[in-house]
Amino acid sequence: MHLSVIGCGYLGAVHAAAMASIGHHVVGIDVDEAKIAQLSAGHAPFFEPGLQELLEAGLQSGRLAFSSDMSAAQHAQVHFIGVGTPQQRGSYAADLTFVDAAVESLLPYLEAGDIVAGKSTVPVGTAERLAPSITATGATLVWNPEFLREGFAVVDTISPDRLVVGVPAGDDGEKAVEVLRDVYHTAIASDTPLIVTDYATSELVKVSANAFLATKISFINAMAEIAEVTGADVTQLADAIGHDARIGRRFLGAGIGFGGGCLPKDIRAFSARAEELGRGESVNFLREVDAINLRRRERAVQLVVESVGGSVFDKRVAVLGAAFKPHSDDIRDSPALDVAVRLHGLGADVVVTDPEALENARRAHPQLSFEPDLVRTITGADVLLVVTEWDEYRRELDPDDAASWAKERIVVDGRNCLDATRWRAAGWQYFGMGRP
Ligand code: UDX
Repeated sequence: MHLSVIGCGYLGAVHAAAMASIGHHVVGIDVDEAKIAQLSAGHAPFFEPGLQELLEAGLQSGRLAFSSDMSAAQHAQVHFIGVGTPQQRGSYAADLTFVDAAVESLLPYLEAGDIVAGKSTVPVGTAERLAPSITATGATLVWNPEFLREGFAVVDTISPDRLVVGVPAGDDGEKAVEVLRDVYHTAIASDTPLIVTDYATSELVKVSANAFLATKISFINAMAEIAEVTGADVTQLADAIGHDARIGRRFLGAGIGFGGGCLPKDIRAFSARAEELGRGESVNFLREVDAINLRRRERAVQLVVESVGGSVFDKRVAVLGAAFKPHSDDIRDSPALDVAVRLHGLGADVVVTDPEALENARRAHPQLSFEPDLVRTITGADVLLVVTEWDEYRRELDPDDAASWAKERIVVDGRNCLDATRWRAAGWQYFGMGRP
């Protein structure tokens, strides 16, 4: 099939490359000419495992191309909208400027029978608002939210947990579902559930999934706060409650909390939309979820300060991690960098390392020092602070080696990802989040 993907960020670039890899002819379109030049040359504009290989293979097969000109969408039958919906300045609401602009500039190239499939995360009611202008061209709008996780984006796009499609009532909706079945033929052949629903439900599925995940993380971080005043260990607590299949252990990792380009802004946009709908009280708890999450960053700072005797002024803090999570170079709303910046503000000599995110981090926070080499980062440190659970730190860093490089054997584990027993055995004072 011939597809266009409008917006070539974390979502769109992966979607375009993944759809080409399963046999479709795809053109990725973006207004950012530098990004298009990079993608056309076969370079992934960000780090995402597997993307580079898919891009190269797609370009070589002749089934994948990129353009900054919307007219390139003309021959596609299905047009995916994968542009960003960031938080508005000065408000919690989502900024829909890019979605509106993408649809507006696509309209002249739509033909009767085409499908426009929205993938961006939008406030409930957006598809209903956009549908009339699209329907007027003879095309059909569907909403097909994306649930990919950064770091696993390629796998999640090719083999998603589920496919959700919100369609209008009637024949057009039914026809659109048949077309999407063809688009996602490989996933459907391997029994991926396909949930066909209305616009509002499809939009809400996405935001409620993210709200649930954020709530799960903040729940365990709230338990970490209680553990801190009672001497309990939140990681053992998470293991114990996680054995209950109704609860499950995943997303019960207590630490410095969630960040990234999705969870923080999506729960805020959800609150803002609920307010507009007169149902703010239904999701009031999301404000608490947000507040708990942000408190954990401050708690990590406090732990570092306490660990070195009350002041970090002039202390060398080796910060291990800058990305908001491992397997990504994304630093959007990264708790790791937030903690590093706060420590810098307290007069610490902060040195940050990360396997993939250093360039992005340097651009955003030029006031910090950055060091690509892990040994040099740790050398002479008064305290080690782990804030992104990369395998390089979690599994591969040997506490005896680290002890021979650092000035003091003090480690603060902002992700509860180190083996505390092993680090203590190597002579380290170990401080976890919500652990004695
Ligand atoms: C999220 C959703 O998981 C995905 O379905 C949606 O499409 C986009 O938003 P992503 O932002 O890639 O994906 O990251 P995710 O893996 O959900 O992690 C979000 C944040 O939560 C990270 O900062 C991570 O470190 C943190 N986290 C995750 C925890 O603090 N504890 C956990 O137990 C799990």
